[in-house]
Amino acid sequence: MSISELIKARTSASSYDPSRQLSEAEINELIELATQAPSAFNLQNWKFIAIRSAEAKASLLPLAFGQQKIVDAAVTFIICGTLEPHATLPAALKPTRDAGIIDEAIYNGWIGAAQNMYGENPTFQRDEAIRSGALAAMTLMLAAQDKGLVSCPMIGFNPAGVAEAFALQATDVPVMMVTVGYPGSSNWPKKPRKQISEVLTFA
Ligand SMILES: Cc1cc2nc3c(=O)[nH]c(=O)nc-3n(C[C@H](O)[C@H](O)[C@H](O)COP(=O)(O)O)c2cc1C
Repeated sequence: MSISELIKARTSASSYDPSRQLSEAEINELIELATQAPSAFNLQNWKFIAIRSAEAKASLLPLAFGQQKIVDAAVTFIICGTLEPHATLPAALKPTRDAGIIDEAIYNGWIGAAQNMYGENPTFQRDEAIRSGALAAMTLMLAAQDKGLVSCPMIGFNPAGVAEAFALQATDVPVMMVTVGYPGSSNWPKKPRKQISEVLTFA
């Protein structure tokens, strides 16, 4: 399938086959693909929690308003964007500098720029967390589709409850959950989209 076909084939799953699981290696590969998503300065200000044990699913279910997909999907990823990205950028960017892709001047310049942009600006930190988490989530969903899996993005959950139940840090913003697994028997077909003329303008 081409990328265009893959994008058009993806739908939000409404049912999963509860008998089919994913191995740790398969989950690792999905996250390896998700983290190919871009982030400002290559901040990589994201974290993923793979909820797949029966106990963890049972904890999450009431926090996700009883959405059965949590139980039936092989895995539910809690996708977090992280705050204070300027503090983690030096370490995140070091491999790019060490590989010679950027030089020392750019490395230091980007760290200084990130400090200026995010340092005193919690709203911008949160915006960046949501941006990065959302890009990683979309990349994850397309990676799942490519592997014959289905997925569903979900904001139907209690973020404070999820943060407490899964010991998120104060700097972890749960951006969205994404369920991933094998399709069940009752999935909706692709839903129509607005006309391009309604959403696109040229300037
Ligand atoms: C940010 C976001 C939050 C969503 N939250 C939920 C959710 O909590 N539960 C659910 O069943 N679907 C959820 N969805 C799925 C949407 O209903 C779905 O993407 C939309 O109807 C379009 O359908 P499609 O993804 O199959 O094209 C969410 C989608 C997005 C992008």
